[in-house]
Amino acid sequence: MRSVVLVTGGAGFIGSHVVDRLVAAGHRPRILDQRPSPWHASGEIDTVIGDVRRPEDVMRAAHGCAAICHLAAAADVGEVHAQPAWSTELNTTGTLNVLEAARQLGIARVVYASTVWVYSDVVADEVDEDELLPAPAHLYTAGKLAGEMYCRSYAELYGVQSTVLRFGIPYGPRARPAAVIPSFVARAQSGEPLSIAGSGDQERSFVYVEDLADGVVRGLIPEAAGRTYNLAGTETTTIAQLAKLVCEEVAETEIVHTEGRAGDLRGARIRSDRAAEELGWSASTPLREGLRRYATWMREQDEPASAVVVAAPAAVRRRARALARLSEAWRDPAFTGVAALLAVASAAVSVILGTPDRTQAADLTVAALALALPLWSLTFTPWPAGLHGRQAWSTALTGLACVVLLGLFSGDPDALHGSHLLSLMTLAICVSALLRVVPLRLAQRSP
Ligand SMILES: NC(=O)c1ccc[n+]([C@@H]2O[C@H](COP(=O)([O-])OP(=O)(O)OC[C@H]3O[C@@H](n4cnc5c(N)ncnc54)[C@H](O)[C@@H]3O)[C@@H](O)[C@H]2O)c1
Repeated sequence: MRSVVLVTGGAGFIGSHVVDRLVAAGHRPRILDQRPSPWHASGEIDTVIGDVRRPEDVMRAAHGCAAICHLAAAADVGEVHAQPAWSTELNTTGTLNVLEAARQLGIARVVYASTVWVYSDVVADEVDEDELLPAPAHLYTAGKLAGEMYCRSYAELYGVQSTVLRFGIPYGPRARPAAVIPSFVARAQSGEPLSIAGSGDQERSFVYVEDLADGVVRGLIPEAAGRTYNLAGTETTTIAQLAKLVCEEVAETEIVHTEGRAGDLRGARIRSDRAAEELGWSASTPLREGLRRYATWMREQDEPASAVVVAAPAAVRRRARALARLSEAWRDPAFTGVAALLAVASAAVSVILGTPDRTQAADLTVAALALALPLWSLTFTPWPAGLHGRQAWSTALTGLACVVLLGLFSGDPDALHGSHLLSLMTLAICVSALLRVVPLRLAQRSP
């Protein structure tokens, strides 16, 4: 089934690969990010530019989605260390807003991007998802664990189904240049020394980003609801071994050691057996092969002919984009509802101004308000995700009916007198109350 899946942070390193993987799996991804994706042609992927810290942006983006993959976050531990308040708000409030949107819109699944950093304070040498986690030392881990707990609470209290994925340390095309593998590869390619923070004994289970994105899409299967999975590489390597591998695969260069980072990931061995058993997932790209592919991609980025995106003629793309946006907009109940309300308002203004009698004009004003009331409820009450198409059609038809009724009332103003007007108002209030309550109940009941 082709479903619309929202990817928050879909313009980022991992998120953009998740978007590609969703397309390959036959879904229709939609990106919510604060910037357009630099990895996709403009208009290629449905995109909402917005901020996950703003509930209204998340609600707008999540309308009509069957699932949300939530990746938008302050993902750089150094950035979290430098800007604790901003990053904590982004990583915790952002997650709450996503879960709340899923609750209000009746979205079937939230896939939450957590991290193997949650194991950084564990004493065991090897860990799986059942490991008891001590209180975290790093703020990044605290924020990510808070997100995991919100997922659990939303499942318990409101039935919002989520899947927690603890990502290993990803690498590959589109990676942030400051991360360890991109910086090692870039330095090796330009003949600079590779710098290791501390002894270099810290162990990491790197995972090739395309493997990781595949794991995120597998996390959408029904059986993964309410489960937590490690998605880590199968090979564990130390930073010192990595530096040697880069020297072998990319270019021979000097290796130097500097002072260690505050709260650095200690690095227990991460088992991803549960993902293998239940999702059929394992990191299939060996580190040496992934490094080779990444180094090739890096070299291509430096070549001017290597455009990331093949551009279609601009006018054709603009037209296709406009049509795609229009057809998407007509399926959005907020869009059709506001258009219908504007149509009713303009019809009301024209019939009221065209009525010379002041009493009749007042009656028509009350009638127009009564007619607009159910339409207002229909437009602004969130319906379950699966019913958005019907909600959009209902708003359009109700708007049309209101305009027709206003036309009839203006032709026969006597029909509005006294008790008729009162009955119309009472009926409108009852219908609009029903239109508010029923969809909210349906949304609460849907899984
Ligand atoms: N990269 C890693 O090493 C790593 C490891 C484990 C888990 N993770 C998790 O995976 C997820 C993705 O990480 P990434 O490496 O792709 O990060 P990234 O920085 O490349 O991407 C994050 C995206 O989120 C967007 N974003 C930031 N603030 C936003 C906001 N307020 N509203 C909307 N969008 C916003 C950014 O524009 C960016 O496109 C994060 O949740 C991260 O915590 C990352």
